[in-house]
Amino acid sequence: TKKVTINILRQMKAGKEKITMLTAYDYPTALLVDRAGIDMILVGDSLGMTVLGLEDTVPVTMEDMIHHTRAVTRAVSRCFVVADMPFMSYNISREEAIRNAGRLVKEAGAHAVKLEGGVEMAPVVKAIVDAGIPVLGHLGLTPQTATKLGGFKVQGRSDTAADKMLSDARALQEAGVFGIVLECVPVTLADMVTSSAQVPTIGIGAGPGCDGQVLVYHDLLGLFDRFQPRFVKRYRDLSQEITEALTEYKEEVQTGSFPAEEHTFK
Ligand code: KIV
Ligand code: NA
Repeated sequence: TKKVTINILRQMKAGKEKITMLTAYDYPTALLVDRAGIDMILVGDSLGMTVLGLEDTVPVTMEDMIHHTRAVTRAVSRCFVVADMPFMSYNISREEAIRNAGRLVKEAGAHAVKLEGGVEMAPVVKAIVDAGIPVLGHLGLTPQTATKLGGFKVQGRSDTAADKMLSDARALQEAGVFGIVLECVPVTLADMVTSSAQVPTIGIGAGPGCDGQVLVYHDLLGLFDRFQPRFVKRYRDLSQEITEALTEYKEEVQTGSFPAEEHTFK
């Protein structure tokens, strides 16, 4: 099994071979994602909602990200692992951004980091890349600053917003990102960013034209149902299956059919 690298991701874009990415936040999940042959794992700050029970990603800390990234990197043998930089871990100064990106790589074993923002974040991106850490950009709906955007909605609908996103993508590329996540972007704009960028675009709610796709593991498997954005495809309803198994267990214990003879020491 050949390890996925930045060069391989670039070659996949050039060869029009789609890149697959999923979130994972723990060891057993990362094992499954890696074994399924997915190219990249995102230890997303979406873990705030999916596994920590928070309202949004804003309160997620560096300690949360390091803890979960460590568990993921212990499981991985092939996937390229990207860890999200949590809100305010890169927004205060370049020095702090480099230090925090460095912790995700050095202490937690991430191969790269992701941060949200365009032109305004380009100097920070460049500083982290210059320090030797690959950075994945994130444009469109940027959940950490959703309040400023006016809520969770499609971005880049107006001509000015579309122009802004194209210059954001250009600025990120000049700053040295190895790829750009596009979240909740109209399909024609996502296609324009994808064809003008030399680095791969990874879409979520950005249509089929992106160089790759990313989804949240818990959304794909039906393990998170507080809300379901339009861009999610639920491939399984595991919440239902798990609930059925747990109920079966409870009933069998109550009726005495578990543990049976084969589960019992003589
Ligand atoms: O945190 C996350 O899961 C993400 C993806 C939705 C791109 O940033
Ligand atoms: Na995120």
